[in-house]
Amino acid sequence: MLIDTYGRVATDLRVSLTDRCNLRCTYCMPETGLQWLAKPDLLTDDEIVRLVRIAVTDLGITEVRFTGGEPLLRPGLVGIVERCAALTPRPRLSLTTNGIGLGRTAEALKAAGLDRVNVSLDTLRPEVFATLTRRRRHQDVLDGLAAAHAAGLTPVKVNAVLMPGLNDDEAPDLLAWAVRHDYELRFIEQMPLDAQHGWKRDGMITAESILSSLRTRFDLTPEAEDERGAAPAERWTVDGGPARVGVIASVTRPFCAACDRTRLTADGQIRTCLFAREESDLRGALRSGAPDEEIARLWRLATTGKKAGSGLDDPAFLQPQRPMSAIGG
Ligand code: 5AD
Ligand code: SF4
Repeated sequence: MLIDTYGRVATDLRVSLTDRCNLRCTYCMPETGLQWLAKPDLLTDDEIVRLVRIAVTDLGITEVRFTGGEPLLRPGLVGIVERCAALTPRPRLSLTTNGIGLGRTAEALKAAGLDRVNVSLDTLRPEVFATLTRRRRHQDVLDGLAAAHAAGLTPVKVNAVLMPGLNDDEAPDLLAWAVRHDYELRFIEQMPLDAQHGWKRDGMITAESILSSLRTRFDLTPEAEDERGAAPAERWTVDGGPARVGVIASVTRPFCAACDRTRLTADGQIRTCLFAREESDLRGALRSGAPDEEIARLWRLATTGKKAGSGLDDPAFLQPQRPMSAIGG
């Protein structure tokens, strides 16, 4: 079991498969100048599967989410999914992706054992997409989403970040579109994880303003508190249901007390929190021939260093060194 000093148990593992991406979302990456991890520093497919196996069989992980950067850029992704799906007990497997390329791989991923996907899409307007992501790939994302739904990678969740002056007027349009396509939409408050360190609290669109904007067009009923569990999203049923919408208010309504996550970076470091400033190295142990029990011990030890909260509200808050793309959402 991965238990921290506050009694929280981590059962949800996020695995970053690469720090690279084919988009350059302004809230995540700079236009140019990011240093990529060197190939020898990345965990190999075998190393990833071994760590997931230890997490699932020895440490109580029941849910594995592959992230990036953009995990579809990892050549071995389908094989990794397949091998993780063969573990006992079988973990639930999901993928957080920008959707580009999902049109080609959704079927294979489903066949390999992937359960569902979270696709990031912030706007319905191709021009705004190009500004937000610095790439003209809007249609590719829409195609990827449709393919994921058709392949049965459901419920298909869509993550949207609203940025002031760019897409902050789109919340109701995004929700109407998501309901129409049977996608479950979740808005995420912008967090200080951009590589440029340009985040400002007063420039952020809050959960409260997102909700009041949605309520101009929809009737929202809060879901019962006990259905939330450790889920970061607070959810509402839309116009009487069954459609739902979620809001992940990491900044204005943090949910750290219920956190059940542990994270593995593409270069084999354990992070106990997105906002952690320390990491614990597992790659060194792997490559020096450590047995499973030793890896499990190091992972448990890392977990005891998990802080009570993100520290976002502390005036002395310092953003993590690595941007989101290198940590893994
Ligand atoms: N704040 C909030 N969400 C972010 N994401 C990436 N960077 C940020 C940020 N600074 C989102 C992506 C994706 C998910 C993994 O995290 O849009 O949906
Ligand atoms: Fe790529 Fe996701 Fe970062 Fe956008 S937010 S640049 S899609 S890793």
